[in-house]
Amino acid sequence: MSRSYYIQTLGCQMNYSDSERIDTVLQHLGLTKTDEMNNADLILFNTCSIRQKGEDRVLGQMRKITQMRRVRPNLLVAITGCMVRKTATKLFSEPDSLLRKVDELDMTFRIEDLPQVPSMLSELWPDYSFPEIIEANLKNYFNINPLYTSRFQAFVPIGTGCDNFCTYCIVPYSRKREKSREMDKIFEECRRLVDNGCVEITLLGQNVNSYGLSNLDNKTDEFKGMRQPFIKLLEHVDSLKKYGLQRLRFTSNHPKDLSDELIDAMARLDTLMPYLHLPIQSGNDEILKRMNRNYTVDSYRELIKKLRKTIPGISISTDIIVGFCGETEEQFMDTYRLFEEIKWDMAYHAQYSTRKGTFADQNLEDDIPKEVKKDRWHRLNELLKSTSHEKNREFEGREVEVLVEKFTKGRCEGRSEHSKIVVFNSNEDLTGQLVNLQVKKGREWLLEGCLT
Ligand code: 5AD
Ligand code: SF4
Repeated sequence: MSRSYYIQTLGCQMNYSDSERIDTVLQHLGLTKTDEMNNADLILFNTCSIRQKGEDRVLGQMRKITQMRRVRPNLLVAITGCMVRKTATKLFSEPDSLLRKVDELDMTFRIEDLPQVPSMLSELWPDYSFPEIIEANLKNYFNINPLYTSRFQAFVPIGTGCDNFCTYCIVPYSRKREKSREMDKIFEECRRLVDNGCVEITLLGQNVNSYGLSNLDNKTDEFKGMRQPFIKLLEHVDSLKKYGLQRLRFTSNHPKDLSDELIDAMARLDTLMPYLHLPIQSGNDEILKRMNRNYTVDSYRELIKKLRKTIPGISISTDIIVGFCGETEEQFMDTYRLFEEIKWDMAYHAQYSTRKGTFADQNLEDDIPKEVKKDRWHRLNELLKSTSHEKNREFEGREVEVLVEKFTKGRCEGRSEHSKIVVFNSNEDLTGQLVNLQVKKGREWLLEGCLT
């Protein structure tokens, strides 16, 4: 009898994109996907460790799994994603492995080791007959075609890892050194998507602005002598508009690497949407230095000015960490006041949590009490609510084009060019279609529209 798997994905869009590649491998092995953890023979967590909360969410489910094991002796439990440092099964694991620490786990794999998953599974399920799949075909996990969740919208990774070593961040340790994917492979994937009806593509990387420029990239011929490879990539993908691509987005950006040429390209290329995610992290120069961010508040202000001048009406979102090591009330207030000044359309703010092995963990004191972090988070959130409301009200009466993502009970929901969530009433399920709407109301977190 065929066996089934359940996959729970946490964290960023990169993880969701990785899960689509995991689907391909598991379904090639004859496993069927289930949405019910209780029915699954293989339970897989694609994890995020950027904050402690994400790890707690996974570990918190282990007790339930112990109970499930009593009635399902064949059950396998696996973890991939940022919580994993080593690829191993419980048949062979090293003492410091996650497998030794968490009893319920059977296997852990780093996402780039996805090609090894078939052989790991056959070790753990010796009684199950797997169809032959040749590991050589899976040499590089990027070469595995994803089973896209959506037919009209896709996330395409353009590289992995990060060389920036922001002092609070685990990513350079979990996803290791920055390495860009070959441009023609990215283009091929985008071309295939567009040929199959995809109208919106988001290019993904930890820092897309340094695409093709990392130390590892410099060692290959691929990007030799190329100036601004990311812009070249954007131009290349933008050319797919003749085959039906309508919208191109990219994330995430780093203020230290966002060039004037890229801002110009955003204005120039037809498919690029007027929206940018540009994490600031803090509005105080001393804290930015302590975070190893390599830019100043003033240089960030300049970027915002250029963006707003070159792409009028652009919507901009950011990430902010509150309560980083040693952050005084006055330093937090610098962030607060900068928020009032810049008025981001959206912000994802987080309370600082120490990540093991990072520079901050080893050299700085996590000295801001929990309650203070919480209080700062709430103050920023109140401010965000009013800023976001104000920004959304600016759209009232305007026409927007929305790519509909879902339909429930007579209501469609999608995103506008500016990446605003827009809801509207409709008798028909318009999922996957681009529709023109008039904005009736700007709410705190979304726009309400009606079909024109
Ligand atoms: N604590 C809290 N937030 C963090 N982020 C990254 N590391 C941490 C941490 N240790 C946030 C940053 C980043 C976003 C993806 O997650 O704001 O931009
Ligand atoms: Fe982490 Fe900084 Fe790299 Fe972003 S740029 S992934 S915050 S180290």
